[in-house]
Amino acid sequence: MSNSLFRKKSLSTIMKDANEGMTDGLETGVGMHKVLKVKDLTAMGIAAVIGAGIFSTIGEASFHGGPGVSLLFVITAITCGFSALCYAEFASRVPVSGSAYTYSYVTFGELAAWVIGWALILEYAIGNIAVAISWSGYFNNLLSGLGISLPDWLSSNYDSASQATVAAAPHIFGIPFIVNLPAFIIVVLITYLAYVGIRESKRSANFMVGLKILVILFVIALGFFYVNPSNWNPFMPNGFSGVLKGVSAVFFAYIGFDAVSTTAEECANPQRDLPKGMIYSLIICTVLYVLISFVLTGMVPFYKLKVDDPLAFVFNEVNLPGISYIISVSAVVATTSVLLVFQIGQPRIWMSMSRDGLLPKKFAKIHPRFKTPSFATIITGIIVGVPALFLNLTIVTDLTSIGTLFAFILVCGGVLMLPPQEKTSDKRFRLPYINGQFIVPALVILLLVLFRGEIGHRLSFEGGWEIWKHNIPFFFFVIVTVVISFFSATRKLSLIPVLGLLSCFYLMTEIALKNWIVFSIWLVIGLTIYFLYSYRHSKLRQA
Ligand code: ALA
Repeated sequence: MSNSLFRKKSLSTIMKDANEGMTDGLETGVGMHKVLKVKDLTAMGIAAVIGAGIFSTIGEASFHGGPGVSLLFVITAITCGFSALCYAEFASRVPVSGSAYTYSYVTFGELAAWVIGWALILEYAIGNIAVAISWSGYFNNLLSGLGISLPDWLSSNYDSASQATVAAAPHIFGIPFIVNLPAFIIVVLITYLAYVGIRESKRSANFMVGLKILVILFVIALGFFYVNPSNWNPFMPNGFSGVLKGVSAVFFAYIGFDAVSTTAEECANPQRDLPKGMIYSLIICTVLYVLISFVLTGMVPFYKLKVDDPLAFVFNEVNLPGISYIISVSAVVATTSVLLVFQIGQPRIWMSMSRDGLLPKKFAKIHPRFKTPSFATIITGIIVGVPALFLNLTIVTDLTSIGTLFAFILVCGGVLMLPPQEKTSDKRFRLPYINGQFIVPALVILLLVLFRGEIGHRLSFEGGWEIWKHNIPFFFFVIVTVVISFFSATRKLSLIPVLGLLSCFYLMTEIALKNWIVFSIWLVIGLTIYFLYSYRHSKLRQA
């Protein structure tokens, strides 16, 4: 049994399955074969990355962290950079669509692949709930500009609703009926597009990306004239711990660059271009994000930024309602592209899992006319659309971030398991090997010395269980760090994946304990399904 849990899919089987997938005539979502080049891949990365994070969740992060949130954008970008390089290494070695799920099937084996596929639901489907909620916030601004306003109880959720909204809402069996209707409707529309096989053609993706970048540059350029430098002082009004409260919001803003890896089969030269596309989109987004966080926190005092539409809000605050309106309209278009990418991506991950026998066959069923994974697309629509009616943005952002960080950790860990590559003269991407033997332990000791006070405080039982329980994730992080340092020293582990793994794990520890609990429950449900269904139906078991 233990062996079969770790049964691995060989690279040749993966390539064979991928080719069979192509002959299914599946509409790939990008609708192009072997034509994507670096420019298109970078554009796709940006299409998936710039969305709810920068248009919405940055508001709450700035409220807690003040201008110092820009520092968090840099730290998070570096963490994502390590992971992007690891994704790139995999994309270059396993040039088939499929993302982290496929990669872990090759390295860790089936159980880990299942766990990662299950965690990716948090990134893609649950992440899209957040994007839909953010979309709805800006859509309401757009409507009010047209003189139409939906009642609050039709455009909010119970958690965030004001007392007045609760009082005004119709009551069903004594329970106030408060739903986010626009969020639901946009998910239905996008699901329909994904179902009939919208071709996210090069042109439309490039148009949406162009618009997004233009809006962000516009906000930065115009906003700078309205910056009041005194708002940047103090830089961290709630200390570094206030800044760290924004981890999941800021990390959420970067999620999506990895979605580029699902297009491997449409790339002209995936082994060379995919890595570049991922890294370039990450660099461009980082520069834009850091600048925008400075502008936002410079235009208005940080404590005013706890809003769902901060980019539009700040221009209202400086008496430019017209600009605020233009931003709202553009945000609606900009976040739509994120919705589309993830709503198309999720069914395809399920399709891969179903082809491997880990999910029922229906998930791989291709619509005879539209050539899309029709059943999986509808299920994605339901899983995203229904919760979007009720949930609040923070809950889903936290869950998405924790699930994605977990997937990144497995990808970085997976790279550590890959056998060394032989040197060849082709131009494919190779993760530079830097020997971590001395650097990792040295870095760990340096950080230990620099932050000894904070670390000691977090590991001590001061304040009793009620306080300490919040440090449990940190405690695990310390153990993993010690173990990895030991192996780095003894087995000369490669530096970049080690730093990726540790930095993602650290960011995870900054996400509140309650999200860890929900995440653990999520994993337990996933494992139950695996053992009750997937383990027995796996193609590898039957092979
Ligand atoms: N990074 C994507 C967004 O912010 C998920 O919408």
